Amino acid sequence: MGMPMGRRTFMGASAGLAAGLALSTGAEPAPARIGVIGTGNRGTHLLSILVNLPEVEIRAVCDLKPEAAQLAAEMVEKSSGKKPTMYTAGELDYQNLLARDDIDAVIIATYWQWHTRMAVDAMKHGKYAGVEVPAALTFEECQSLVDTYEQTKVPCMMLENWSFRRDNLALLNMKRKGLFGDIVHVHCAHSHNCIDHWFFDPEGNIRWGGEFLVNRNCDQYPTHSQGPVLSWMDINCGDAYATISSVATESRAINAYFARKFGPDHPSAKRTYKQGDIVTSTIRTQNGKTLIINYDMQLPRPYDNRWMLQGLLGVYSEDRESVYVEGRSPKYHEWEPFAPYQQEFDHAYWKSMSEKELAMGHGGTDVVELKLFLKAVREKTQTPIDVYDSATMSSIIPLSEASIAQGSKPIECPDYTKGAWKTRKPAFALDV
Ligand SMILES: NC(=O)c1ccc[n+]([C@@H]2O[C@H](COP(=O)([O-])OP(=O)(O)OC[C@H]3O[C@@H](n4cnc5c(N)ncnc54)[C@H](O)[C@@H]3O)[C@@H](O)[C@H]2O)c1
Repeated sequence: MGMPMGRRTFMGASAGLAAGLALSTGAEPAPARIGVIGTGNRGTHLLSILVNLPEVEIRAVCDLKPEAAQLAAEMVEKSSGKKPTMYTAGELDYQNLLARDDIDAVIIATYWQWHTRMAVDAMKHGKYAGVEVPAALTFEECQSLVDTYEQTKVPCMMLENWSFRRDNLALLNMKRKGLFGDIVHVHCAHSHNCIDHWFFDPEGNIRWGGEFLVNRNCDQYPTHSQGPVLSWMDINCGDAYATISSVATESRAINAYFARKFGPDHPSAKRTYKQGDIVTSTIRTQNGKTLIINYDMQLPRPYDNRWMLQGLLGVYSEDRESVYVEGRSPKYHEWEPFAPYQQEFDHAYWKSMSEKELAMGHGGTDVVELKLFLKAVREKTQTPIDVYDSATMSSIIPLSEASIAQGSKPIECPDYTKGAWKTRKPAFALDV
C-alpha cells in the first residue's frame, strides 16, 4: 500500500536546511530502544529510516516469516554492527519480545487484525506502541486501546504519516493564524487503486488485506484521509465527531478488473465481494461543522487525497493546489497558488530537515513522523498522535459499516474522551 509521494512534499526542500529536525530540548536523553513487529513491506520501509537515525537502537525484530525477520536483522546489523534478536516462532512470539526489559517501544506493522492486540499488549508491558494504520478495526478494539492507555498511562500512537505532510502542516499553521476564519467544512479522500498490487498479488491471488473486501462493506482505510483533518477541525480538542452517515456504491470494480485481466473464470473475477467501490461518509461535529470522507481503492486511478478546507474567511483545495483568502487574495473570487503560502507558513518540523532526511520515506514525511515518535519515547512524554485520535480515526471503519448496513442511517460517534473534548486544548504540532 506504499503511497506515492505527495505532490508538494519536496516543495521548498532546499530552504533552511539546518542539521536534523529541530526537536531536541537540552540534555540528550538515551537512544530509544526499539523492537519492530512485522517486517514486511512497511515494517522494512520504516526500518530503513530508523537505521539511519542516531537516536534509535533496534534491539529486536519479529515476523511470522523467518526470511522477512532475517532480512530486517541484516539491515540493522549492516548499519549498526549489532544483530538484533529475531522472534519468528509463530503468531504469539511477539509477546516474548514485549517481555524484555531492555526495549522502550515497539513499531507494529503487521496484518490489520493484529494491530490492536499487539498495541494493547505493548502498553501492558510498559512499552510505547507505534502502530501502523488503522490502529483498530472494531468498536471493541477502539475502546480497548483507550481503556488500556487509561489503565497503564503508556502512550499509543497510530502511525498516520499524512498528518505530518509538509503541505498539511503549513495549512495547520495557516488555520491557527486565522487565515481561514472558523472552519465550517472539510473534504478528504483516500483514492488509491490497491487492487492491482496490495489487496491481491500480481497473479490475482487474494492477499490478507483482500479478505477484508470479501467480508466487510465499510470505509476500509479511513486514516490517511483524516490524518491532517483532525487538527484542522480541532477534533477531540474543542470539537468532536457527533454523527456519521455513510453510503456505498455497488461492488463492481474488483470483479471487472480481474475479468479484464485474467478472464471471467479467474477465481478473483468470480468471488463475491461485500465491499462497495466508493464509500462516502458525511460526519457532523458537535459544533456543527461537516466532514466528507471518501474511500476509493478499487477503481483504476492515480493517487489522490482531495483535501479541501473551508472556513468563514477562505478555502484551500489540494486538488487545485490553490487557496483563496478573503482580504488577502489579490483578485475577487479567484484562486491563487498555494506554493507561496506553503513557504511562508512552513512548519518548524520541516524547516530544519537535513537533505538526507528529506530524501527518506515519502519525501521526509515518514522521517518527521518517526522522529517525533522517538522524541516522545526518549523524553517519556505523550506521542504527537495520542490514543484518542488513533481510536477516533480508526472508528470510522465500524461506524461506516454500521451506517451502510442500516441504509445510511446516521450513527452516533463514540466519544473516547468522555466529554473532555470540550476543554482539551490542541496539542498536535504546536511548535510552529
Ligand atoms: N502508513 C503508510 O503509508 C503505510 C503504507 C503501507 C502499509 N501500511 C500499513 O502497514 C501494515 C503492514 O502492511 P504491509 O504492506 O507491510 O504488509 P506485508 O504483508 O508486506 O507485511 C506484514 C508483515 O506482518 C507479518 N505478521 C503478520 N502477523 C504477524 C504476527 N502475529 N507476528 C509477527 N509478524 C506478523 C507478516 O508475516 C508480514 O511479513 C498494514 O497495516 C498497512 O495498512 C501503511
